[in-house]
Amino acid sequence: MTGNTFGSIFKLTTFGESHGLAIGGVIDGCPAGIKINLDAIQKDLDRRKPGQSSIVTQRKEPDEVTLFSGIFEGKTTGTPIGFAIQNTNQKSKDYSHIKNTFRPSHADYVYEEKYGIRDYRGGGRSSARETASRVVAGSIAKQFLAPITINAYVSAVGTLSLDLHPSKVDVLEAEKNIVRCPDSKLASEMESLIKKVRKEGDTVGGVVTCIIKNIPVGLGEPSFDKLHAELGKGMLSINAVKGFEYGSGFSGTKMKGSEHNDLFNPDGTTQTNHSGGIQGGISNGMDIYFNVAFKPVATIMQNQETINSQREKVAMQGKGRHDPCVVPRAVPIVESMAALVLADFHLRKRNNRI
Ligand SMILES: Cc1cc2nc3c(=O)[nH]c(=O)nc-3n(C[C@H](O)[C@H](O)[C@H](O)COP(=O)(O)O)c2cc1C
Repeated sequence: MTGNTFGSIFKLTTFGESHGLAIGGVIDGCPAGIKINLDAIQKDLDRRKPGQSSIVTQRKEPDEVTLFSGIFEGKTTGTPIGFAIQNTNQKSKDYSHIKNTFRPSHADYVYEEKYGIRDYRGGGRSSARETASRVVAGSIAKQFLAPITINAYVSAVGTLSLDLHPSKVDVLEAEKNIVRCPDSKLASEMESLIKKVRKEGDTVGGVVTCIIKNIPVGLGEPSFDKLHAELGKGMLSINAVKGFEYGSGFSGTKMKGSEHNDLFNPDGTTQTNHSGGIQGGISNGMDIYFNVAFKPVATIMQNQETINSQREKVAMQGKGRHDPCVVPRAVPIVESMAALVLADFHLRKRNNRI
């Protein structure tokens, strides 16, 4: 299996499966001398961890990270940062029903066909448990990037959506409720919807919006490694993601150029920001904002028709502990992938000019 490394200078390689001994990673290329706040890393992990509230999977994992290398006396040393998070609350027997049967719309079938062998326990490598390692690295990248700020929040669950432009959102409000939606009234409607869907043994999708502030001009490498292209890749590499749009996105197609153009102020800032802070694949100094669409995840507690490894039609019902809606837990993952992209471009920018 290839494809376990992300980034070109600030690089993260992850390892591990859902029900193995541990998951973890190696961050290579992180510059020396960055002050690291370990509590901030743990705080981000706690925002992603299972069992954190009544609307997420009830798998109970403390998700405490052990850092093995690369940090000394509170600062990065420039050497590889190795880390691991133990898996402690596996219930592998909950997954024996998918040993020879494929959950519709999960990764079971393609892993089996591609590799001929599959660790089916908890979804193995295809489980979003892997994203905890991204959060560790992303949290370190965020600390490297300060004063750039990266904040994500839930802007939709099913058909309930926040009708407020990201530039007007108070992102800190989002962390005050378990859904992570900055509008508390809408958050409680979303919570009720998630609980209703869970009761029905079903799942529901949603949207995570991210806003990045204090960005310098010049991040992004045309032609192929445009800033929005790498952000898109980072986001689309997150489990269950089905869509990515930045700036005016798909709604921009309904505007005319005369409405869509961001007119300049004399200092180079723009009066509007339909471009989402990126032009020609390069940050222009305005806020970057984008939406990430998550599907209703595959494992439902209802009977569904599927096939087994003998290609026979069989009935299956989901078992085990699953998320009825992943967006509340996906918020720190989206921030982390954004941080990894920006950290990498920050280092690549150093080569741009003498
Ligand atoms: C935070 C998070 C939690 C997830 N939890 C579940 C889950 O409990 N059950 C499930 O079937 N899928 C879950 N997923 C999604 C699967 O990992 C994903 O759908 C699967 O690997 C197939 O990949 P794809 O949907 O990207 O094609 C979760 C995704 C994220 C981001």
